[in-house]
Amino acid sequence: MNHFLDIHKTSPDDLRQIIDQAAQMKSARAGRPKGTPDDDQPLAGRMVALIFEKPSTRTRVSFDVGVRQMGGETMVLSGKDMQLGHGETIADTARVLSRYVDLIMIRTFDETVLTEMAEYSDVPVINGLTDRTHPCQIMADIQTYEEHRGPIKGKKVVWTGDGNNVCASFLHAAGQFGFDLTFTGPSQLDPEEEFIGLARQAGSTITIERDAAKAVAGADLVVADTWVSMHDSQSSKERRHNMLRPYQVNDALMAHAKPDALFMHCLPAHREEEVTSAVMDGPQSVIFDEAENRLHAQKAVMRWCLDV
Ligand code: CP
Ligand code: NVA
Repeated sequence: MNHFLDIHKTSPDDLRQIIDQAAQMKSARAGRPKGTPDDDQPLAGRMVALIFEKPSTRTRVSFDVGVRQMGGETMVLSGKDMQLGHGETIADTARVLSRYVDLIMIRTFDETVLTEMAEYSDVPVINGLTDRTHPCQIMADIQTYEEHRGPIKGKKVVWTGDGNNVCASFLHAAGQFGFDLTFTGPSQLDPEEEFIGLARQAGSTITIERDAAKAVAGADLVVADTWVSMHDSQSSKERRHNMLRPYQVNDALMAHAKPDALFMHCLPAHREEEVTSAVMDGPQSVIFDEAENRLHAQKAVMRWCLDV
């Protein structure tokens, strides 16, 4: 069964097929009102459960709209309103949901909730973000980079700030799509060794550079994310901000990158914290294309999961 749990768990050929299909589906419906159906209706008669144990704007709306454009139906469920949030096991929840729906997307905290859901589900499960990874975001980001600049293979991506869940999926993608990644941030917030190792094993050059300006030199793509993720305690906020301030993406830092470098952020952003408004709203920023491409990339992910 085709679960979409992580980028490194999906083959490079399948990932490429998903990105190509996302681009085709995007261009096929260019200029149409968002509520009109696609010409193909591969999800006709299919029901998709979208489960959220954390807040979401992009993931929630893009999955919901994407399913409908492809002719399917959705139900959006809040984890805390389900028995899942009141002691029913994940395994039992997965077995029950599999009797009602054709596909499950879940955003949760602990990665084991996702993996157990997939283990016991009879229908495909998609990772809509965990504390550890966010693969759907990075599929949209690869689509976005290639739409603007062509193949990402061999390019230099610089991740600034916290080596968090989004950074982890970028590392997975580095190995699978063949680009290099430099992490620049404080040592306390380095990405997991396991993920760095996986990317290196796949042949990517992964560099850790504490000096942000040096890290960004020659970058094709500079990426930032929030300094405090949903799974981080609010009490750590001040300490994290103090550590991360030297890694803010601003015009001075972007000047070290290649002149045609792009800037990405998965959003939601905290303006003037991890990135300035001048960069977010400037000519190198593709943040709203990334947000749009969540829709197209996830539609292709869902088709891959269901083989339709
Ligand atoms: N980027 C992203 O996943 O956004 P949401 O938290 O709004 O879904
Ligand atoms: N790193 C962020 C990403 C939000 C889409 C978080 O986990 O809160």
